[in-house]
This record gives sequence, structure tokens and C-alpha cells, in this order.
Amino acid sequence: MSEKPKIIVFCCNWSVYPGLQLSQLPPSAVDDSGVEYIITMCSGRVSPELVVEAFANGAWGVMVTGCPPGECDHEGNYNMRRRMTLLINTLEQLNICPERIALDWFSASEAAKLEKAVNKLTKKITEFGPINSAVEQG
Ligand code: FES
Repeated sequence: MSEKPKIIVFCCNWSVYPGLQLSQLPPSAVDDSGVEYIITMCSGRVSPELVVEAFANGAWGVMVTGCPPGECDHEGNYNMRRRMTLLINTLEQLNICPERIALDWFSASEAAKLEKAVNKLTKKITEFGPINSAVEQG
């Protein structure tokens, strides 16, 4: 498949994003592989509607990242983790494979770990291809 996968990564501004800026990853919001990084003020601010909207706008996969457990001042990461159940159910209702979404925690110094996780998701999503409801049902 020659088409690049479109992956959206929601990054908490207070956890991995500062480390991401200091890493070898390109400083722009979209890296060379086409992965788009969207900065949020907390993973808890990523609503299910935002994730569904990302898929509706052509995303092949979505990753939400936040501060590690115990490190979010707002407990937004716990809220996001609880929200994943709702999101998975919603995606299944929309005939979107729930494996297209990932949630993980990263501290400020874990840009390399994030890069590895994004590469892993990108590889899996590339095998899935773009969202096609007929294929997703299979
Ligand atoms: Fe980072 Fe809440 S402030 S996940």
C-alpha cells in the first residue's frame, strides 16, 4: 500500500510534549511519517467526540497520551482511562475496529518511548489500511 497512514496523537502538554520537543523528532506538529501531534492541556480534555471526529476526518488511528498515573494534577488521565470503555463501544457501533485507538502514559523524559509506541501503532494501522466500514465489519 503506497498511501501513508494518517495517525493522530493527542499529547498532554505537561507530560511528554516538552520531551518530544527536545527529542530527535521533528519540531513541527506533523512528522515525516505523517503522524500528526495535537497538544492538549490534559489527556482528560480529549473527549470521545474529538476522537470520533478525528476518525470522521480521515484518521486511520488515534493515540491519546497523558501523564503517568499519579502525575496528572487533574486526574484527567484516570478520566480518560475510564472513557476508553465508552470509546471502544462507540467505535464498535460505528464499525471501526477498536484496535485503531491506543491510550498510554509517558513522562517528560520518555519521548523515545512515545516514538516507539507511535511506530508500533503506525505499523499495525498501516496493515489495517484506511477505515472502510465494509472491511471493518469483516
Ligand atoms: Fe497530563 Fe492531565 S495534565 S494527563
